[in-house]
Amino acid sequence: MISLDVNGRRYTVDAAPEVPLLWVLREHLKLTGTKFGCGEGLCGACTVHLDGKAVRSCQIEAGSAAGKQITTIEGLPASHPLKQAWIAEEVPQCGYCQPGQIMQAASLLAGSPAPSVEEIVAAMNGNICRCGTYPRILRAVQKAAGGRP
Ligand code: FES
Ligand code: FES
Repeated sequence: MISLDVNGRRYTVDAAPEVPLLWVLREHLKLTGTKFGCGEGLCGACTVHLDGKAVRSCQIEAGSAAGKQITTIEGLPASHPLKQAWIAEEVPQCGYCQPGQIMQAASLLAGSPAPSVEEIVAAMNGNICRCGTYPRILRAVQKAAGGRP
């Protein structure tokens, strides 16, 4: 049994501590907004926050997340500037990578509220989008940060 704090709620999960956090989120808690992409820490589709920092949940053992605040895309309010900007800029194409993109961007803006283009590109660089929505992602992060466009 593992006790996890996810999106402000405490869950007790019947899973081995070494199971990847991604599995627990999707299979046990049915929080399917977090996506399984590569399973190797390479694509960013599984990005969630641990104590506010973006992490690849496919690479985190669920047991090591105990006692930390876990936030998934479901835990980000609909009024969050990034979710609003994502809609305004019509960012998603197939949508698969987008929860991870938003969680990565949210972690960036939490630590750097007015990032430069270079900072945004560097922070988002590890999140792969096979549909190539990168220009819209950049615009949406800028919009959420209060800059252009
Ligand atoms: S599924 Fe975790 S980084 Fe790709
Ligand atoms: S929108 Fe399709 S993978 Fe990014």
